[in-house]
Amino acid sequence: MSQQTVNGDAFENLLREERRFPPSPEFAAAANVHEDIYASAAADRLAFWAEQARTRLTWSKDFSETLDWSQAPFTKWFVGGEVNAAYNALDRHVENGLGDRVAIHFEGEPGDTETITYADLTERVKRAANAFEALGVRKGDRVAVYLPMIPEAVVTMLACARIGAVHSVVFGGFSADALRSRIDDAQAKLVVTADGTYRRGKPSSLKPAVDEALAEPGHTVEHVVVVRRNGQDVAWTEARDLHWTDVMEAASPEHTAVGHDSEHPLFILYTSGTTGKPKGILHTTGGYLTQAAYTHSVVFDLKPETDVYWCTADIGWVTGHSYITYAPLINGATQVMYEGTPDTPHQGRWWELVEKYKVSILYTAPTAIRTMMKWGSDIPAKYDLSSIRLLGSVGEPINPEAWMWYREVIGGGRAPIVDTWWQTETGAIMIAPLPGVTATKPGSAQVALPGIVVDVVDDSGKSVPNGHGGFLVLREPWPAMLRTIWGDPERYRDTYWSRFEGEYFAGDGAKKDDDGDIWLLGRVDDVMNVSGHRLSTTEIESALVSHEWVAEAAVVGAADATTGQAVVAFVILRSEAEIPTGENAAEDASAVLRAHVGKEIGPIAKPKHVLVVPELPKTRSGKIMRRLLKDVAEGRDPGDATTLADPSVMQQIAADLRK
Ligand code: WT7
Repeated sequence: MSQQTVNGDAFENLLREERRFPPSPEFAAAANVHEDIYASAAADRLAFWAEQARTRLTWSKDFSETLDWSQAPFTKWFVGGEVNAAYNALDRHVENGLGDRVAIHFEGEPGDTETITYADLTERVKRAANAFEALGVRKGDRVAVYLPMIPEAVVTMLACARIGAVHSVVFGGFSADALRSRIDDAQAKLVVTADGTYRRGKPSSLKPAVDEALAEPGHTVEHVVVVRRNGQDVAWTEARDLHWTDVMEAASPEHTAVGHDSEHPLFILYTSGTTGKPKGILHTTGGYLTQAAYTHSVVFDLKPETDVYWCTADIGWVTGHSYITYAPLINGATQVMYEGTPDTPHQGRWWELVEKYKVSILYTAPTAIRTMMKWGSDIPAKYDLSSIRLLGSVGEPINPEAWMWYREVIGGGRAPIVDTWWQTETGAIMIAPLPGVTATKPGSAQVALPGIVVDVVDDSGKSVPNGHGGFLVLREPWPAMLRTIWGDPERYRDTYWSRFEGEYFAGDGAKKDDDGDIWLLGRVDDVMNVSGHRLSTTEIESALVSHEWVAEAAVVGAADATTGQAVVAFVILRSEAEIPTGENAAEDASAVLRAHVGKEIGPIAKPKHVLVVPELPKTRSGKIMRRLLKDVAEGRDPGDATTLADPSVMQQIAADLRK
């Protein structure tokens, strides 16, 4: 990490935000939880979590101790308890007479649909559990999952959980090499994949990457189960490869779930760290499921009987794990699952789905919101979005302009927005407003959830007063916390628990406003230092996006001989913006935007360059790859761009810059 310091002064722009949106009295009255939950959690935190565990999950054996922190930072929650994730997500709802409730409204990109009830899903998971066991998968074995956004992804994950196998989902956008290194690190015995999927109206393949990953011997994989999704021809390795339908048809639909120890590993999910080697984040069963279910109920105010919930994340990321596969099903929700891209076959696809399924809770990422903003408000305006009653945001700080657009254009000015801060490592939401309680502030995640203890500290680990910035830390262990980095407990300790004594270092900069509410300022490794002044990329991006011309902005700190670092901004202009034309249009636009940033934050924050670009390099999960932009800004050849959703973006930007 290059710089681990932040200075509050640069963040005044965000903190001048004074708009407040309290819940309507009707929303507040009907909300799942009320203000008193904060006090009851604070009065006895462990008793609070024990109650969440016992009320939200059905345990086959009760636990005897809520938290064992004696081996800190290694932890155990709900010690001695036994619980089965799949039973909680499926069987118990069927036993409770909810078998006919829709669990998943699946919508494929080409428009094919499937309605899957809790009874259907339970049967599929039972078959898959039997099928995987028949293939030799035993409790504790690892299963690599390389699937698109289709119901079989959920079935596979839950079938693994049912039998105590540990899934390791690898996002379909990762390359064969990345898949192989994850298979090797976890020593996976089975791979579940598909021939492919659809992206932007065209078939897109997955199985060839599995074949390539397994081409070199020396791996641990015994079988590859292949779902037929897009019908593409695929190479076949006899004895190793099996068709999903064949193994499922051969399997019995009867399967009794047994409880697994509360600390039994549930899944590994790889995430990038500050070094080149991805970290295998390990989550276990009881604590993870408890916090996932609790947060999904209180943050989204879920009413399982009436809500239709849609989380647009991919199953390959932690958001898809916690808020598609586990929490919604444990809570008995009805959800929408969409396979494809938001602009296929047209830019109104998401809103068409909201109208069609009467989605009432939508959970998505700021990058998607800003993309939709760029496409124009007239597109969502064509659809009936009146079913929406709550909106969620996750993944990166949401700038106030995107927040307001989300509220007004998508939420009709009525629906509360919950900006949820958490990480792959935290397993579940940690900081967010409670929609029936908190008066929301555009751009702030605001408050730790009841049961969670966060703080912002300075370099020396001292809590900063309100109005100041520093590092976000988690002061107390929480149920869904990662237990370790797979195979590397030392790295776990070093990465998260060594920066501040006894506290979890999240890697994010944050500031407390005058009310003590928390504003996330981006990763501390994205903080720039310009002439000894520290600036947040987020802050400058927010200022840029507050200009009416700008749809999206990415800022990097580029090495500069004079000032240490210089601010370089890449911006996408809105299609509907009235931007001056003529010979020097691009130069004029960038001068206007530099001046705008100077006005919003101060002359020190003015980007040295503002480059107008047609696209920004993004991973398939929608994260802007600032590293690549930094390469371009520093005149280097942008290295490996293979994880980009559209690898040609970088060539295009580099070519534009050479003009
Ligand atoms: C990092 C974690 C949480 C699931 C998706 C991302 C950033 C996440 C917010 C938010 C500001 C946020 C942080 C965090 N982040 N949510 N609401 N406001 N920043 O999981 O890939 O593990 O990334 O995403 O920087 O550390 P992830």
